[in-house]
Amino acid sequence: MPYAVELPDRVRKERYFDPDFFALENERLWPRVWQMACRLEEIPQPHDYACYEILDQSIIVLRTDDMGVRAFQNACRHRGVQVVEGRGTCESGFVCPFHGWCYSTDGKNTFIPRKKTFAEHNLAPHDINLVPVRCEVWGGCAWINLDRTAPPLRECLEPAATILDAWKVESLRTEWWYACRLPVNWKLAVEAFVEAYHVVETHPQLVIPTRYGRRDDASFDPRAFVAADLQYLRTMSEGMGGMVHADDVRIAEELHDIELPADAELAIATWNRMLNDAVTRRHRERGADMPDLNELTELGYNREFFQCFPHYFVLPMYSSASSYRFRPLGPEETLMELWSLTRYPEGSAREKPTPPEPWECDDPRWPPIPTQDFSNLPRQQKGLHAKGFEYMRLSTQMEGHVSNFERTIDGFLAGLPNEKLLPALQSVNVYPFDQPILDLGF
Ligand code: FES
Ligand SMILES: [Fe+2]
Repeated sequence: MPYAVELPDRVRKERYFDPDFFALENERLWPRVWQMACRLEEIPQPHDYACYEILDQSIIVLRTDDMGVRAFQNACRHRGVQVVEGRGTCESGFVCPFHGWCYSTDGKNTFIPRKKTFAEHNLAPHDINLVPVRCEVWGGCAWINLDRTAPPLRECLEPAATILDAWKVESLRTEWWYACRLPVNWKLAVEAFVEAYHVVETHPQLVIPTRYGRRDDASFDPRAFVAADLQYLRTMSEGMGGMVHADDVRIAEELHDIELPADAELAIATWNRMLNDAVTRRHRERGADMPDLNELTELGYNREFFQCFPHYFVLPMYSSASSYRFRPLGPEETLMELWSLTRYPEGSAREKPTPPEPWECDDPRWPPIPTQDFSNLPRQQKGLHAKGFEYMRLSTQMEGHVSNFERTIDGFLAGLPNEKLLPALQSVNVYPFDQPILDLGF
């Protein structure tokens, strides 16, 4: 195993640019993992389809007549042409644009022009249908897996799946969708978001005493606390382009002059409970499928960030959520997509979201917080190439998740069996901040 993580708090730099390492991921990681292929609102009606591209593979994800989903490898069985591109709606199936072989929506070959000119062995019925790909639905998304032997989707997403189900993420819909081309390895991009250690230096505007900073109980002032928390919510809303939804910021602002007890702990608990109550009630009143935020708190599910190994993230906050997906385009190039998801009254009609044109990472249109993250990343990718730099030195208390993530990838690269990999990826599908380095069992 080249460049394996041997000491768990040291990660060799070659993992982030070596072409052979990248090729090994292409061969042993991506073909074995569940991947978020599209949001279901991209294919709302029967026969809507969207192609999901991962490295050199293209997979058609199709909405079936009974509102399920089905997936196929996007290659005509005749001479390999991709039968569709991008997305759209097909009437009764697909017609290959080269010689006109036809496939039904269940992938069956239905027509071959001048069929009699082919030998019998090239017309075996099972052999001329589109190759099916495993496809399952969870969390408002269609997921694919190229490995027939992989465990079911749900198991591979635990424990995040249970927590995010309580958040009712399946009722969230796209409000906007952006994409960023990052000149860095996909794991470097992921790892810029999975620890809070960088917040103080990279995002100083987020160091607000109510959330990241330290609280001085002796001089606690409930008014100042509420003002600071409102400032945090506004900063997260504007700075992240809506990580806290503007509706929820308004709801919080309406509560600004409520009476709070003088005791710090009691005041904070009261504020949080009242804000959760108000957000829950208001969204339910307008007909949205909204979880009870205080129930989530009681269950201990009120965290704001969950990974779904390897490349999908959901960041729920109050009524809404952000979501990320990172796809490798090359050893040192990544496509990062960002969604803002929110709740609409049930039954309200929405436009199909269309994939965004990727912006460069220094595009002035990015909101301030991603701009700060994006400005570090290209410098980090370049710095890794320095002759004297050998490996990353991780904090065992604040950056354990980076190690757990990298070592889970090593499990795939080593070709470990599913029963060994499942516990490892379940230890990555968690709230990543301040995770310790875990024993993954291999
Ligand atoms: S390649 Fe598809 S019909 Fe020939
Ligand atoms: Fe950040």
